[in-house]
Amino acid sequence: MMRLGNSDLRVGPVAYGCWRFTQSTTAQADRKIRTAIDNGLTLIDTADIYGIGEVSPGGHDGFGAAEAVLGDVLAGSPDLRAQMVLATKGGIDAVRPYDSTYDYLTAAIDASLTRLQTDYVDLYQIHRPDLTTPMAETARALNDMVQAGKVRYVGVSNFTPAQTRALSAHLDAPLMTTQPEFSAMHQDPITDGTLDLCMEMGMSALAWSPLAGGALATGKGANVDVITVIDRIAARENTDRSTVALAFTMGHGADVIPIIGTQNLDRIKQAAKASTMPLSARDWYDIVEAYRGEGMP
Ligand SMILES: NC(=O)c1ccc[n+]([C@@H]2O[C@H](COP(=O)([O-])OP(=O)(O)OC[C@H]3O[C@@H](n4cnc5c(N)ncnc54)[C@H](OP(=O)(O)O)[C@@H]3O)[C@@H](O)[C@H]2O)c1
Repeated sequence: MMRLGNSDLRVGPVAYGCWRFTQSTTAQADRKIRTAIDNGLTLIDTADIYGIGEVSPGGHDGFGAAEAVLGDVLAGSPDLRAQMVLATKGGIDAVRPYDSTYDYLTAAIDASLTRLQTDYVDLYQIHRPDLTTPMAETARALNDMVQAGKVRYVGVSNFTPAQTRALSAHLDAPLMTTQPEFSAMHQDPITDGTLDLCMEMGMSALAWSPLAGGALATGKGANVDVITVIDRIAARENTDRSTVALAFTMGHGADVIPIIGTQNLDRIKQAAKASTMPLSARDWYDIVEAYRGEGMP
């Protein structure tokens, strides 16, 4: 278990995400969440926008559907709530398309809590920066959620380091997390300052799509040089590509927690093993060099 940012929350080294959750019945969703938690994937990440354009087998329709499916799980198995660190996000309405105004976020957190059938979330993240709203206004909404006990900690997602600092300057309590896209196929956070800022501010980085949406597992659409290096390491360690790819995200010096999104119970169990995979610094640089197409300077 590791500390989430500078918070008093402890989470497993790999997290489980609910973006692809909407096609689950409550019973199926319950099994996935239980499998995740039983295997140490205790941070459960969702968002109000997940499910847009879909209808769940239980009839949850569109915006909010993934939260509602998780809410049904929590209502049916209240024991699970205390075993998880529950994270959600708001700020995308898919029309404007981003809204981080005070009024929007204040209504959004209440709607998320209703769908999730819980009184509070452990982490509330601004899903994407709303470039039209002053950071001070967004911060006021977040400060008030924390003050009201609806949210324990706050974080951001898809923010540049400068945007993260701008929001942070107006918050009463430190940001605990940032959620960038990060994988062996998307290495920008290594160079754009995101992971450095995590180490400066004491935030955890929650890496979304750490298997590049499956490309790093199947090889389909993946960078051939990256896959070749990953396969060599996997063969040496007698493991699979996904395990090496997840270990890569955790191999950076910052505190990186990959959020996996598989709907397959065996793959959830296997992902838990990535945190103990022996990936050397040389292996890690080999993957970086394969991605860059040249050696380190
Ligand atoms: N903040 C943001 O903007 C943002 C954006 C995207 C995602 N996220 C977060 O990140 C989480 C994970 O995203 P993700 O689902 O894209 O993560 P991912 O783990 O990179 O990709 C999951 C996909 O890979 C497939 N896959 C995994 N292992 C496989 C294997 N061995 N063989 C074939 N296919 C395999 C899965 O299919 P199966 O189900 O068949 O295994 C699934 O479709 C989301 O749930 C969400 O919480 C955040």
